[in-house]
Amino acid sequence: LDIAVARILSERLREGRGVGDMLDLLIAARDDDGVGLTPQEIRDEIVTFIVAGHETVASALAWAWLFLARHPEMQDQIAEESRAAHPWSRASIARVPFTRAVFDETMRLYPPAWVITRRSRDADVLPCEISIPAGALLIISPYLLHRHPDIWVDAEEFRPGRFLEPFERDAFIPFGAGPRLCIGRDFAYVEGVLMLAMLTHRFRVTPMSEGMPWADPQVTIRPHGGAPVRLAPR
Ligand code: HEM
Repeated sequence: LDIAVARILSERLREGRGVGDMLDLLIAARDDDGVGLTPQEIRDEIVTFIVAGHETVASALAWAWLFLARHPEMQDQIAEESRAAHPWSRASIARVPFTRAVFDETMRLYPPAWVITRRSRDADVLPCEISIPAGALLIISPYLLHRHPDIWVDAEEFRPGRFLEPFERDAFIPFGAGPRLCIGRDFAYVEGVLMLAMLTHRFRVTPMSEGMPWADPQVTIRPHGGAPVRLAPR
């Protein structure tokens, strides 16, 4: 990754001609004093974006295909929505609410970022009377919150329709919350929802194994052994 990023960056800096992408924006960025980013800082931003932006969406989509393969009726619903939303663009997302609900429901059950960590600045006591010392490592698990039976009806069931009705927004945090909310969230919806709509428009997906694979909690939560499904043209 380092070698690839270094090569792209040095070529772009040498050529000095932009193609209008994010790397150009980083190279052109200046703070209030007119100071730009160093090559090391640009490299760090690029690596962060690749790491934060690639496997997260890939893992959400892998689980989504595994669910859809087991729900042909949902594939039909997505295909119908995506036909009506054609030609696709960023704006199509508003026209495919069920497809978006499938993406959300997948991230409810398998939030790619299954833990989020914080370091407490000061000591505090939570409303549930748990004391937190200063400097403690706090681990917040979207995975557990998203499956909490007091919050979600039939919490373990894959039911995208729940996202078409009012739901507990504070209990759905696949992209985190607060000032460090995922900066790529809107882009992730564009990628994820459009990919589901466009591929379901073209293919029928069937499972290649009986049960769902077990969840492998690495940096993201991935299906163990991948997501083997069979595609047939629609
Ligand atoms: C389904 C896809 C994605 C999920 C589930 C996801 C999840 C998250 C979460 C939970 C955080 C917050 C971590 C924290 O609070 O400590 C985060 C931060 C971040 N995400 Fe994403 N992300 C996704 C896609 C993307 C994409 C596509 C990009 C970039 C193109 C991206 C770039 C980032 C960056 C740069 C941060 C750090 C932001 C900051 O600290 O200010 N993510 N992401």
